[in-house]
Amino acid sequence: MPLHKTINCFPDTQILLWNITETAEMLSEGLHLTQRSLDRLRNMKSDAHRCGFLSVRQLLLSLGYQDSDLYYDEFGKPHLTDGKHISISHSYEYSAIIISDRITGVDLELRRDKIAIIADKFIEPSFILDKNDPDYISKLTVNWGVKEAVFKIRNEKGISFKDHIDVKLFEMSDKKTTATLHFNNLQRQFDVYFEEIAEYTIVYLFERH
Ligand SMILES: CC(C)(COP(=O)(O)OP(=O)(O)OC[C@H]1O[C@@H](n2cnc3c(N)ncnc32)[C@H](O)[C@@H]1OP(=O)(O)O)[C@@H](O)C(=O)NCCC(=O)NCCS
Repeated sequence: MPLHKTINCFPDTQILLWNITETAEMLSEGLHLTQRSLDRLRNMKSDAHRCGFLSVRQLLLSLGYQDSDLYYDEFGKPHLTDGKHISISHSYEYSAIIISDRITGVDLELRRDKIAIIADKFIEPSFILDKNDPDYISKLTVNWGVKEAVFKIRNEKGISFKDHIDVKLFEMSDKKTTATLHFNNLQRQFDVYFEEIAEYTIVYLFERH
C-alpha cells in the first residue's frame, strides 16, 4: 500500500505514515539514493529493515524531498538540508516521518503485552497505572513512545527514561498529554499527541519554546 495516512496537526507540520506491504524492489521505484544510502541498504541484515528505510524515502519523495536532502549527524539523528526539523520511525509494517518548523520527535510502536514485563524499567513513579485498566498496555506503549520521541530530540548521554522523563497521566481518549525532561540543569516541556492505528501506536511531540 502506498502512503497510508496523513495526520493534520499544525499548518507548519506534516506527519505521514506508510503501510509497508511492498517488496524492497517495489519500494525502490522512483528513488534516487545517495551512495551513502546505497551502502547502508546493502549492509542491512533484514528485508524488513530495508523496506522501512525505503518507505521513509518514498514518504519524503511524496513531499518533494530527495534522499540527498536528508543527512545524519554523528549520533544518527536525521536532518533536512532546508533547515526544517525531521524525525523518523519504523516498526514492522509501518513507517512514519514528521517534518516541521517546530522541534519534534516521532515514535511508532507495535503494541505488545510483553511491554508490561519491562514497565518497571521505564515508568516513572508518578505515572501510576491500574494493571486492570483495559487500556493498561495502550498507556504503557504511549509512555514508552513519548520517551523514545523525546530521546530523538535530545539524545544526550545519561538520560534515563525512568528518572528524567515524566509523562502526565492521560486517558487514551484524550489523544494528547504533556511531558517533561529534567536532566542535569536542563528542563524542557513537550506537547504530546498520540493515536492508535491498527495494532500500532504513533506518538509525536513538540518541544515548547
Ligand atoms: C535512537 C532510538 C531512539 C531509535 O528508536 P527505535 O525505536 O530503535 O527505532 P525507530 O524506528 O523508532 O527510529 C529509528 C530512527 O530514529 C532516528 N535516529 C537514530 N538515532 C537517532 C538519534 N540519536 N537522535 C534522533 N534520531 C535518531 C533515525 O532516523 C532512525 O531511522 P533511520 O536511520 O532509518 O533514518 C533508540 O534506538 C534509542 O537509542 N533509544 C534510547 C534507548 C534507551 O535509552 N533506553 C532506555 C530503556 S529504559
